[in-house]
Amino acid sequence: MHEDIREVLLSESDIQRKVKDLGEQLTKDYQDLHPLCICVLKGAAPFMSDLVRAIQTHVEMDYMAVSSYGTSTESSGVVRIIKDLDTSVEGRHVIVVEDIIDSGLTLSYLLDLLRRRNAASVRVVTLLDKPGRRTTGLKPDYCGFEVPDEFVVGYGLDYAEKYRNLPYIGVLKEEIYREDP
Ligand code: PRP
Ligand code: MN
Ligand code: MG
Repeated sequence: MHEDIREVLLSESDIQRKVKDLGEQLTKDYQDLHPLCICVLKGAAPFMSDLVRAIQTHVEMDYMAVSSYGTSTESSGVVRIIKDLDTSVEGRHVIVVEDIIDSGLTLSYLLDLLRRRNAASVRVVTLLDKPGRRTTGLKPDYCGFEVPDEFVVGYGLDYAEKYRNLPYIGVLKEEIYREDP
């Protein structure tokens, strides 16, 4: 285990098992709909890459980079588009793929945008949900795990751009992110 991690919340096999389940569900729900999977960079990249390989029907992939956190641990509430989609979503069945929903600000912004661009349908699949932190009415259509309000990293989730490559999800030791007075 990485020395900055206090405890492993979800092991690599917990995650992979859940990704398979979600992939099976999406395979059933999107049969013949040719959905467009949109990965919200950077955090959702590992999840997206495993998830699409668990979906047994034709899907397309595209990427969007938005950021509301920067290097801080708290959402600034300001969502910036850093990279837009290459694909038109008009008339498409869109699946937005996220690593975690916290306040819900990133996704409410994104869902509004995709609906304004006339997607035929928009659903959200998130690996992790922190419902305790929600400041918007947002609920994911597909969710891997609900997690407590702790600072989790790994499998895409970062603190100051670190730990994204851990194959598991762990709780960061408090002394790593606490600012000393
Ligand atoms: C994180 C996370 C989600 C979002 C969730 O992304 O990956 O996209 O915050 O928070 P919210 O529900 O409060 O909006 P971040 O902005 O840190 O960018 P990153 O994916 O590049 O790390
Ligand atoms: Mn993100
Ligand atoms: Mg981040």
